Amino acid sequence: MTNTSQTPAAPMRTVRVDSFGGPSVLTVTDAPTPEPQPGQITVDVEYAGVNFAEVMFRRGQFPVDLPHFPGLEAVGTVRAVGTDVTGFAPGDRVAALTLGGGGNAEVVAVGAEHAVRLDGELAELDGALAAGALCNVTTALGVLTSAGHLTEGETVVVLAAAGGVGTAAAQLARSLGAATVIGVTSTPAKAEYARGFGYDSVVSYEEIEREVSERTGGAGADLVLDSVGGAFRSSVTGLLAAFGRHIVFGNAAAEDVTFEGNHPWYTNSSLAGYNLGGVAGRAPELFRAHLERALTEVAKGEVRVDVKVLPLKDVVHAHELLETRASTGKYVLDVRS
Ligand SMILES: NC(=O)c1ccc[n+]([C@@H]2O[C@H](COP(=O)([O-])OP(=O)(O)OC[C@H]3O[C@@H](n4cnc5c(N)ncnc54)[C@H](OP(=O)(O)O)[C@@H]3O)[C@@H](O)[C@H]2O)c1
Repeated sequence: MTNTSQTPAAPMRTVRVDSFGGPSVLTVTDAPTPEPQPGQITVDVEYAGVNFAEVMFRRGQFPVDLPHFPGLEAVGTVRAVGTDVTGFAPGDRVAALTLGGGGNAEVVAVGAEHAVRLDGELAELDGALAAGALCNVTTALGVLTSAGHLTEGETVVVLAAAGGVGTAAAQLARSLGAATVIGVTSTPAKAEYARGFGYDSVVSYEEIEREVSERTGGAGADLVLDSVGGAFRSSVTGLLAAFGRHIVFGNAAAEDVTFEGNHPWYTNSSLAGYNLGGVAGRAPELFRAHLERALTEVAKGEVRVDVKVLPLKDVVHAHELLETRASTGKYVLDVRS
């Protein structure tokens, strides 16, 4: 099969990083328009969400090559289809994980196995909302289910409760049957914001141990969603009930992490990890099932995503907000503006 692209490869606009550092290393520039490799589709991007992981890529906290092209998720229409791809045609509306970057651009090449068509139940889903849900809601679902094995009646603690993943996790935990969902934020304003997403209570990092103890009669939480890491991670063991699960899926604090390694042994508790890119790479069918379920929950209005849309040129501002802990909800770039 040959490449079905009919469009000459004119330059496109993209966000680019030439050296690791603060938000100012992000530039909007021209780059060659990608063509799909075997197994890939190219997407004319409309909306691209901004994720905390992209802050970490930009700072050089993950091993990526320079120049780096940010953007882990993209929503738009299929531009061209590579060899060995079935199920996609030019013009299809899609949402796709980019696995490594490139989504903050007018055109991105993605593995077809990491894309879903926005048709059927997803046909009416707003593009900005789809981009806002893509990584965050799928991650929240994966952390609660595949990694966290949440069951009915359990108590869940969500760190960074007002963020993109946190606001989705509160709603999904509730719909999956959690009896009590407690959020943790760094400021009272963020706590107030997070309460709008269905938490039973939202407290500070200093207050969480007492809050969990009071709400569970001293038993502890069954599930703790920990994307914050750093020094705080070692204290999470103190929040857990017997048979509890501590799920690590980030290190926003960007500090070294230490553990009391005997705690799981003493308490029958577990430490587990979750990595959306890892799931997509190692188990693409599971990834797609979770992505479709996440987008469907959003399309049906079961999960609310508070999306704030910015033009592509404001990518620096979006990174500044995330990096300084000033953001709530989800920032999405309108790549066409
Ligand atoms: N493993 C995966 O597959 C996966 C996928 C998606 C996201 N994640 C992780 O999940 C977390 C949430 O992602 P998101 O995109 O939705 O971001 P976000 O929650 O909207 O923003 C990150 C939040 O982390 C908290 N935080 C704690 N210490 C921080 C620090 N030193 N600097 C900055 N923020 C700090 C802040 O909330 P407070 O100020 O309230 O503490 C901040 O708002 C991130 O850590 C991300 O890396 C992991």
